[in-house]
Order: sequence, then structure tokens, then C-alpha cells
Amino acid sequence: MSSVTGIIGGSGFYSVEGSSGPEVTNIVTPYSDKPVPVYRSLVAGKPVAFLPRHGIEHGVPPHRVNYRANVWALRKSGVNAIIAINVVGGIRTGLEPGALVVPDQLIDYTWGRAHTYFDVLEDAGNHVDFTWPYDQGLRQALLDSAHELDIACIDGGVYGCTQGPRLETAAEIQKLRQDGCDIVGMTSMPEAALARELTIPYASIALVVNLAAGLAQDAISFADIAASLDDGIEVIRRLLPGTIAKLP
Ligand code: HPA
Repeated sequence: MSSVTGIIGGSGFYSVEGSSGPEVTNIVTPYSDKPVPVYRSLVAGKPVAFLPRHGIEHGVPPHRVNYRANVWALRKSGVNAIIAINVVGGIRTGLEPGALVVPDQLIDYTWGRAHTYFDVLEDAGNHVDFTWPYDQGLRQALLDSAHELDIACIDGGVYGCTQGPRLETAAEIQKLRQDGCDIVGMTSMPEAALARELTIPYASIALVVNLAAGLAQDAISFADIAASLDDGIEVIRRLLPGTIAKLP
């Protein structure tokens, strides 16, 4: 099978604009009662398989996403690289709404999610290396594409993944900051680890849509988030063709 780039869309990102398609294929997986719809198209002349993480109508909250079925469906679609789109809160000073970050590390604060394909201990191979959770080649493709388009994009940062769906308390954000987190979101885990278990290189482009809890004067407003979401998603859309063109 020829190489296919998987795109996992987050909040605000429900389709990929390509030169053809999209054609929907419903993929049967061992991890879901229902098949998972994957949308195929051509972007920069290359095959892309798009999967909206929260469903096409954004009906599935972060803690209920069937991450195992999603990543499995992408593998079954022939995907050999995944670019994930995540919206996040900014923790590190200077990471304000509209900032784009290509994280290089993460800390997992989620609990109770089906987080592995290896539920039975078979051998040491089940303990996958996860020192560097995000693939450096894919990260570089995102950064190079941003550079070529003169789009500011921050190279590196620690993504703290919280359980949601509620946002954090101010004290939780202070703890995450002390832990070294630069951004906070709810969806990079277990997605990144599952991709690693299936040996699919994975990287994320994270859009800051709010200052994390307690870092602004006011409470976090959904209206403010929505305002930065639309513009930021358009910028990510511009980044994708150049990124995909660079992949081997
Ligand atoms: N916290 C967690 N997830 C998020 C946030 C946040 O502040 N903003 C967008 N996704």
C-alpha cells in the first residue's frame, strides 16, 4: 500500500480540504461497535486519511473519545504518519491565544481511559519506548512548512494532558507549570502512545485558544475560545499541504 498521511482533527477542525474527495470509508475495528468513518482525499498530490477525533459533529468529549478505535482505523487505512491537531490552553509566559506550538514532550494526567493495545503482558516488547513521544521528522516538517509560509510556530514544549471535560483549577495549572508543562489540553493522550504502540510516527500541532486557568484576570470564556479558534484553525489549514508535501 502506498504511504498515507493520517490527520486527526480536534475542536474546530472537521474536514481536510484537498484536490479530490473526500471519500468516506467506514473502517471496522476490534475496539468499537460501530465502524469508524475515515475521510480520504488528496492533499499536495498525496493520499490523506482524515479522522475527526470528536466525531464529525463534535459529539464526543475528550474523555469519551475511542482513541484505540481511531488510531486502529487509521492504521487499517494504510497510514504511516499521523499529524494531530490539538487545541490547548497556554501556561508558559508568552503563549497567548493564537500561538502555535509543535510540542516535543508530554505529561499524562488522564485516568481511566483505554490507553493501550497491550492489555495482556506477552513479552517485553509491550513496553514500548516513549522517551520522545512526538516524531522528530514530522515535527520538523510542520516547522519547516510554517517557516516557509512565515507563520510563527514554536519549536518544542511540554504538553500536559488533563482528563477533562472540565477545565482546570488555578492551583492545578500552577502544579502543571511547576511540573514543566507549557501547554494544557485534553486529547494528546492516550492517542500519542497508541500510535507508538502501532509504530506509527506521530506529531502534534497545538493551537493556544486561551490562557490556562488563573493566568488571566477573568474566568475562561467559551466566547473568547471560539474567537481564537476559527482564526487559528485557518492558519493550521495553510500549514498542512506544505507539511504533507515534505513527508517521505
Ligand atoms: N485546558 C485544557 N484543555 C484545553 C484548554 C485548557 O485551558 N484550552 C483548550 N483545551
